[in-house]
Amino acid sequence: MQMKLLMDRIRRDGRVEGENILKVDSFLNHQIDVELLDEIGREFRRQFRDRTVSKILTIESSGIAIACIAARYFSCPVVFAKKTKSLNLSGDVYTASVESFTHKTVNDIIVSKKFLQADDHILIIDDFLANGKAILGLSDLVRQSGAELVGAGVVIEKGFQDGGKRIREMGIDLHSLAIVDAMDQETGIRFREEAPGEEML
Ligand code: G4P
Repeated sequence: MQMKLLMDRIRRDGRVEGENILKVDSFLNHQIDVELLDEIGREFRRQFRDRTVSKILTIESSGIAIACIAARYFSCPVVFAKKTKSLNLSGDVYTASVESFTHKTVNDIIVSKKFLQADDHILIIDDFLANGKAILGLSDLVRQSGAELVGAGVVIEKGFQDGGKRIREMGIDLHSLAIVDAMDQETGIRFREEAPGEEML
């Protein structure tokens, strides 16, 4: 379910750059509006309210602040995957390869085996979902650890890219707080219509 407070803020302060980049750096991923983040954290807890979450997993860098505030509501620690250019072969880490369509880079991501364990219940949190590569990489780390993947919470899903579809098709319980279906420098941002019967916050 989408979050009206967040959508209003994106409408007001989001900027469309080029064909498909949404700049939200005045409140989400450069300058941070901590009160908005607090509402976002509360909303993630509400959307996953019936679920046991023992750890939140995110990826550096922009996911960390969001995950930390959400973790206050879940009363659990945050683990963030680190991006690295050189694969750590020591055997004490889980690794996955994440290709960034937006940045045209490939990173190996790593998490120490100490921090993901088979009895964990993991919620993945990130700022953007575009092609889904970051969430797929993170879910692969969870799979390697044997932990349960509870689901994924995303602040902004770009619904015109196929990550959300792929992740839902994999059976991952994905909750996006704002889903942008189209955006244009002239005509602005169009959010996904909620299905009938779904109330909006
Ligand atoms: P994917 O993970 O869903 O496949 O997405 P993609 O590779 O396209 O995105 C990679 C990076 O680009 C991510 O940041 C993501 O947050 C960011 N990103 C994607 N689309 C947008 C957008 O429209 N606006 C903004 N502002 N960012 C976008 P990252 O590589 O993890 O870097 P960091 O910023 O978290 O350090």
